Amino acid sequence: NQNKRIIIVSNRLPVKLTWKDGAITYQTSEGGLATGLSTIYKQNQNLWIGWPGSAVAEEDQSKVKTDLALQNLSPIFLTQQEINDFYEGFSNETLWPLFHYFPTYASYHPEQWEVYQSVNKKFAEAVLKIATKDDIIWVHDYQLMLVPQMVRHELPEVNIGFFNHIPFPSYEIFRLLPWRKELLCGVLGADVIGFQTYDDVRHFISAANRLAGINGSVNELNVKDRVVSVDAFPISIDYKKYRQLAEQSMTRRNEKKLHKLTNNNKLIISIDRLDYSKGIIHRLEAFSLMLERYPELRGKIVYIQLVVPSRDNVPKYKEIKEEMNRMVSEINGRFGMLGWQPIQHFYRSFSPTLLSALYRAADVALVTPMRDGMNLVSKEYVASKTDQKGVLVLSEMAGASRELSEAVMVNPNDIWNFCETIYQALNMPEDEQKRRMTAMQQTVSRFDINNWVTNFIDKLAEVKLRQMSLA
Ligand code: UDP
Ligand code: G6P
Repeated sequence: NQNKRIIIVSNRLPVKLTWKDGAITYQTSEGGLATGLSTIYKQNQNLWIGWPGSAVAEEDQSKVKTDLALQNLSPIFLTQQEINDFYEGFSNETLWPLFHYFPTYASYHPEQWEVYQSVNKKFAEAVLKIATKDDIIWVHDYQLMLVPQMVRHELPEVNIGFFNHIPFPSYEIFRLLPWRKELLCGVLGADVIGFQTYDDVRHFISAANRLAGINGSVNELNVKDRVVSVDAFPISIDYKKYRQLAEQSMTRRNEKKLHKLTNNNKLIISIDRLDYSKGIIHRLEAFSLMLERYPELRGKIVYIQLVVPSRDNVPKYKEIKEEMNRMVSEINGRFGMLGWQPIQHFYRSFSPTLLSALYRAADVALVTPMRDGMNLVSKEYVASKTDQKGVLVLSEMAGASRELSEAVMVNPNDIWNFCETIYQALNMPEDEQKRRMTAMQQTVSRFDINNWVTNFIDKLAEVKLRQMSLA
């Protein structure tokens, strides 16, 4: 299997198209899927099919195709209507909130479901145009749950993998979806179905049992005449790459500048896409409570909050942005003093060297989502700490908490405890910081992105053999 061509299929490509001074330019995409997979698609004859992130006029499409082909990327163009109904609508107003345990945020629109199906068909057709039965087809995430079965229907023998980057919810949540069975059966077209954690695996198997009467063992389902493997493959980062970036002189210079700009105060950071699943509001509440309870911290610490714009046409994202801005200015207005402001807030993205410098400079990183499939920021922070100093405060609700057990855990809903935990993190003795960080570095370096890809691809080959032995 190692020599086969891998065709990656995901909604978002690792680059996104933007216009600058009337010309098309390409930028790196944010988000765990794009950063996680960005190492592998450049290898061999591999190819990545996906959407370049905005609507492209018909007359520009062939240029974009040619530009991207040079990087092993093959664009799928979505119309504005498809962006509204498939991407912003069904994917991010139905599936995303539901799978992240925000059922009250989810809406159900049959006309968006229609477009979700037709766009999935568009992706499947693009795959079928290129793929042969000897390729590996690796479909990613909740936007494309119908693609595995659509491809299977046309290429019955081909090896198909599906990996879900976000949580798969408990059956009681999943069943709320009017189209739950169609989505489930779409995914079952794959040979290997991968999730971030064993809880996700359990939830999926239970949904398959209850919705489609499919039986199987702990990690295997019997789907008609095929066995399908369902397993946990926690995604990771390119550890060496982040390590090297952290060691570069440019990064170190930026780190020094950061210390200077923050007056050598103790530094707390958080880095997230603007998303209600990331717990941005709860974190601000806990931070504010800490400044209230521990006045001695005022003037002594700085919280750099980096928030990357995301899905800004979706109403819930607009709402959370307003709420966040209101709280940041309230906290700065309330606790700030001449020459000192508790929060430095950025609403943009940072370059890799600046991100790395931020990780290096931070005494405490707050990674405290309400719910997260994995969360790569936590692993990037760990990899960047070349002196092993620094504390990771991690939410129990992030997939990463299963692996990074030496982090300081919080339940972000428990505001009092959250506030105390940040305070303790700021005061953790250096030897304890080093002990915890060293252990986490061992985990992340051992189970890195290469290990993740190899495990998934090996599993695909293994399942094929098992299917043949049972045939
Ligand atoms: N990121 C980025 N630019 C930024 C800030 C963050 O590319 O300015 C990256 C970050 O390094 C990480 C990813 O975005 O790799 C976020 O992934 P994560 O799994 O933490 O969350 P997701 O956004 O996928 O929900
Ligand atoms: C998460 C999802 C990805 C998505 C990314 C960024 O990581 O799992 O599928 O690409 O967020 O979100 P966006 O909507 O900008 O693609």
